[in-house]
Amino acid sequence: MKAKKILGTILCAAMAITALTGCSAGSGKNKVGVSMPTKDLQRWNQDGDNMKKELEAAGYEVDLQYANNDVATQLSQVENMINSGCKVIVIAAIEGSSLGTALDKAAAKKIPVIAYDRLLMDNANVDYYATFDNYMVGTIQGTYVKDTLDLDNAAGPFNIEFTAGDPGDNNAGFFFNGAYDVLKPYIESGKLVVVSGQNTFEQVATPSWKTETAQSRAENILSSYYADGTNVDVWLCSNDSTALGVENALATNYNGSYPIITGQDCDIANVKNMLQGKQSMSVFKDTRTLASQVVKMVTQILKGETVEVNDTKTYDNGKKVVPSYLCSPVFADANNYKTILLDSGYYTADQLG
Ligand code: BGC
Repeated sequence: MKAKKILGTILCAAMAITALTGCSAGSGKNKVGVSMPTKDLQRWNQDGDNMKKELEAAGYEVDLQYANNDVATQLSQVENMINSGCKVIVIAAIEGSSLGTALDKAAAKKIPVIAYDRLLMDNANVDYYATFDNYMVGTIQGTYVKDTLDLDNAAGPFNIEFTAGDPGDNNAGFFFNGAYDVLKPYIESGKLVVVSGQNTFEQVATPSWKTETAQSRAENILSSYYADGTNVDVWLCSNDSTALGVENALATNYNGSYPIITGQDCDIANVKNMLQGKQSMSVFKDTRTLASQVVKMVTQILKGETVEVNDTKTYDNGKKVVPSYLCSPVFADANNYKTILLDSGYYTADQLG
């Protein structure tokens, strides 16, 4: 009886220390929270796995959560991370502006927050941002279209449609603008024609980046504007999940010559489509690079060192310009996929087979 009581007292004391220090009972390790949006898209699984692996290798305990693309779930997961003593929290937001109350609570407990890949908006309590150069992703896509069609020399005109990302994701506008800024002069001169007339971000956005939503919009466009045999020469898609929707729509609703289609992420389904000529290119963002950078940031924060950033101008979240580290995106197509995806160990040949 007495021994039980003593054991209970020791356990309570250990739990209290855990709550205060953020160290897991017995492990003595600092805990880092990692909040990811969804398991539905391949890339976030890779991001989460890489972050967990790298953080654990660096000696941290990791609380990795996926929020099933549900904002309320993500909010409560982040609040749990705050209450369970995480020392730093890394967040890839579902909707950039929806986590304000959690960010305020983190700040009150002096827990630094790193926005991961997507900027956290409209709140000053965002300490750092690590991402890929999002505008450059769009520039790579637009430049590919410009070069492939040789827009400066070819007579044209060429028909083009756009499919962009989720309006709640700050990245989506950067991708769209990066591509549109390259193509705009040719649209204005009439060398590129947006047959549907839908050329603003709002008109071409895809809520939640959903493949099915991109597919049904593409089906509508094809039946409304291309059923008479008009060719669509380019479909500028901001990422792979939306490109997949467009590719599905073209497979069943279109008989013309196959368009140039852009993407981003090198998702397995899209790499397979690239190899079968159903998608022209993608943009490779090596999630291992981003994970390593974020682990470096976490360590620098916890050691009180200067945190390495390379951009202090671009990412204004409405309340502050968030110091950022931008990794470089890489052009990918059927010609270089072996080097960048297989030789680098990102995928195995079996996965793409
Ligand atoms: C990411 C993209 C991804 C998209 C959909 C964006 O925030 O930067 O890589 O394709 O979300 O998940």
